[in-house]
Amino acid sequence: MTKVLIATQKPFAEKAINKIIMVLKQADFEIEFLERYTEKSELLKSIKDADALIIRSDKIDKTLIDEAEKLKIIVRAGAGYDNVDLDAASEKGIVVMNTPGQNSNAVAELAIGLALYGIRNLFSGNSGAELRGKTIGLHGYGYVARNVSRIARGFGMETVVYTRFSKAQAVSEGLTVTDSLEELYAMSDVVSIHVPARGEHIKSVSYDILQHLKPYSIIVNTARKEVINEDDLINFLRFRPDVKYLSDIAPDSIEVFEKTLKGRYFFTPKKMGAQTAEANINAGMAASEQIVNFLLKGDKTFQVN
Ligand code: 3PG
Repeated sequence: MTKVLIATQKPFAEKAINKIIMVLKQADFEIEFLERYTEKSELLKSIKDADALIIRSDKIDKTLIDEAEKLKIIVRAGAGYDNVDLDAASEKGIVVMNTPGQNSNAVAELAIGLALYGIRNLFSGNSGAELRGKTIGLHGYGYVARNVSRIARGFGMETVVYTRFSKAQAVSEGLTVTDSLEELYAMSDVVSIHVPARGEHIKSVSYDILQHLKPYSIIVNTARKEVINEDDLINFLRFRPDVKYLSDIAPDSIEVFEKTLKGRYFFTPKKMGAQTAEANINAGMAASEQIVNFLLKGDKTFQVN
């Protein structure tokens, strides 16, 4: 029997789990859930006889891939697939997919929530400012950023975008596309980061870029910590006490923020962007359907390796 393993350290909402079960049962697949696991050894054991794997931010490295004797497909229920060793998967002929767009509204709502929290001085009791009339700069213009732009419009914000691959999309929506990242940061009251942890984007938020920020700017990061040059960010925040940094991903040097940048930052205790029932249902069902379509019909749409 075909076994689908759903390995999620951060489990899907119950409603999503019911839908995932429904889709996979219809295809007559066996389902195993490995939720909230704490040891890699648990995953090593379960992956051994799995034909298909659904994960979220769970790290799938070469050791796990080597252990899998029957694995044909890994679906990352979400957008970013930097947690999967694509080369190791490709070497074994395993197809890797993501589920683009499925959790993007949830992440976008959180990004705007963080912007609001920042501009209101972290609800500290001190007077803040309003989003209306401000400019939000979108660093990257994928599915999440497009939702941020839509919501920002409702707040009466102007949107500017820096993108290399989605220029036509942004222009078709009447948005201003800047020629450079420097220009984007210089124009924005709020910068919201929406680039993947890959290639040129790694550490792309550097001192050179940050120094262009306007007074009292807010930086929102719901993407990945890897896209930030952390040392540069800390140095910049020390130099510019008017700027705040709010992120859905805690930095490596969190204790430096705690000790030296009090009241200037906020980090969610756990990555919360996609942690809604709706996002879990969308991404979980898409992942299940993609597995069914691949295993039964050979459909490789959304393959990333
Ligand atoms: C994504 O890449 O889809 C988001 O970062 C959400 O990740 P999560 O599934 O771990 O919440």
